[in-house]
Amino acid sequence: MALPDTLDAPGAAATQPATVFILDFGAQYSQLIARRTRELNVYCEIVPYDTPWSALAPRKPAAIILSGGPESTLVADAPRMDPEIIRSGVPVLGICYGMQLVARECGAELVKLDHAEYGPATLLVVHPETPLFEGVSTESRVWMSHGDSVVRMPEGFKKAGSTARCAVAAMANDERKIYGVQFHPEVVHTEFGKQIINNFLHRIAGITSDWHMESFVDRAIAEIRAKVGSDKVICALSGGVDSAVAATLVSRAIGEQLTCIFVDHGLLRKNEAQRVTEAFRDVMHLNVVAVDARRRFLDKLDGVSDPEQKRIIIGHEFIRVFEEEAAKIPGVKYLVQGTLYPDVIESKTPQSKAGHKIKSHHNVGGLPEKMNFALIEPLRALFKDEVRALGLVLGLPDHIVQRQPFPGPGLAVRIIDSITEERLALVREADAIVCEEIDGANLDPKPWQYFAVLTPVKSVGVMGDGRTYSNLVAVRAITSEDGMTADWARLPYDLLGRISSRIVNEVPGINRVAYDVTSKPPSTVEWE
Ligand code: XMP
Repeated sequence: MALPDTLDAPGAAATQPATVFILDFGAQYSQLIARRTRELNVYCEIVPYDTPWSALAPRKPAAIILSGGPESTLVADAPRMDPEIIRSGVPVLGICYGMQLVARECGAELVKLDHAEYGPATLLVVHPETPLFEGVSTESRVWMSHGDSVVRMPEGFKKAGSTARCAVAAMANDERKIYGVQFHPEVVHTEFGKQIINNFLHRIAGITSDWHMESFVDRAIAEIRAKVGSDKVICALSGGVDSAVAATLVSRAIGEQLTCIFVDHGLLRKNEAQRVTEAFRDVMHLNVVAVDARRRFLDKLDGVSDPEQKRIIIGHEFIRVFEEEAAKIPGVKYLVQGTLYPDVIESKTPQSKAGHKIKSHHNVGGLPEKMNFALIEPLRALFKDEVRALGLVLGLPDHIVQRQPFPGPGLAVRIIDSITEERLALVREADAIVCEEIDGANLDPKPWQYFAVLTPVKSVGVMGDGRTYSNLVAVRAITSEDGMTADWARLPYDLLGRISSRIVNEVPGINRVAYDVTSKPPSTVEWE
């Protein structure tokens, strides 16, 4: 994992919020530590575990957190951090593997446990005076996941907590402000986890909560203006929340110097193209060029039924249309991309380079770098829910900010087999009913995504007194955290019944509705 660019130059130092760095030792929970920190209105960045102190020091870290990791500190080539970090005087919190590293670095003795400890345990606070455990009950539930344990405390440290199977479940050096917890305070199963992180950041490191979307907007606008000067900028608007928020923010900074290009590829949901252009032109007053490329895409997709082919054709065609439109605007130097922080982190991890390709994901904002524009990525430091919060601060309409994820290739991957105008109309009408009904049902929690899929299956039905032989539509509704894994939503039967009867009654050409009850894996969210 290479250093994120944000380490170098996030903006003018004087305007930066207090920054916590999270050294990532490869735990599944590193992003969760970052989420918890940001929820406490403290800005943080995840950096590789071997980032040298000399790279961190110029950014004046307010505190440093060491994440957990899959390795054991007892093996010879175990990942380590720069020991200067411990000596720097900056408050440090080591979590799980991070605590063991701190312990080793400070001279503790560790052993491998006979049986690793996973899951819930009861933490007993044995050093109640430490600010780390202020407001934490003497006994509380914590989440453990480790195979090694500290058996001799490092000098200057006090044992702060223990569990039945872990003699040193927490250790504290209040004087040097160095702490370690063997459990995971970042997971919700740890009862006082948020309190402990809060204590570390606020009471121990003395950080004031200055990470708010309002101040982010001011900083981002200043940075964009400084970077762009009087040059011209373009942005591909998809209607999705990321590109919408990025474009709005940039437009706040440089107004008419930004031109947004919205390509209508004809594969959008019902009324979507019109809603997007109206929202941006009339409500947000952005400079939008809407390109009607519906015929062009349909012609290219004529007779194509292979899912990968469809995805590739749409991806290529999108770039072509965008390039043609961009060429009509003279003097463009920058391109706005809605890249988010998880993309920044994930594109740098080794895992993203391995693995099998399941689908060629095509992101409407994902234009090739060879376009010779310099990039502006104003959301690079943000998580998805922060982007939504930013959208609201910028005054974007709710239907854009709360929009469910929609694949770049659109309805093309929700029509199994080849695409025709008639089949597009069928899926679009059925989909509109699915959305209307689920939106209107005020479900809590609301499914992450819900839509209709047009299958290539025809079946026999009876309507009035007549026989029908027409199309089968599948309804898909899923719950998910991030789209990587998903479960089918347990929609109320009455709601499913209403969706089904409205579709067969209101959409001529469909006489049967099925509900998809598969999770991901083994299925994927989209059918193609
Ligand atoms: P799959 O079908 O891969 O979908 O399980 C996971 C999530 O990604 C969305 N999706 C896409 N998003 N471009 C996108 O921007 C794409 O090509 C694409 N394909 C799938 C899908 O809707 C779900 O949220």
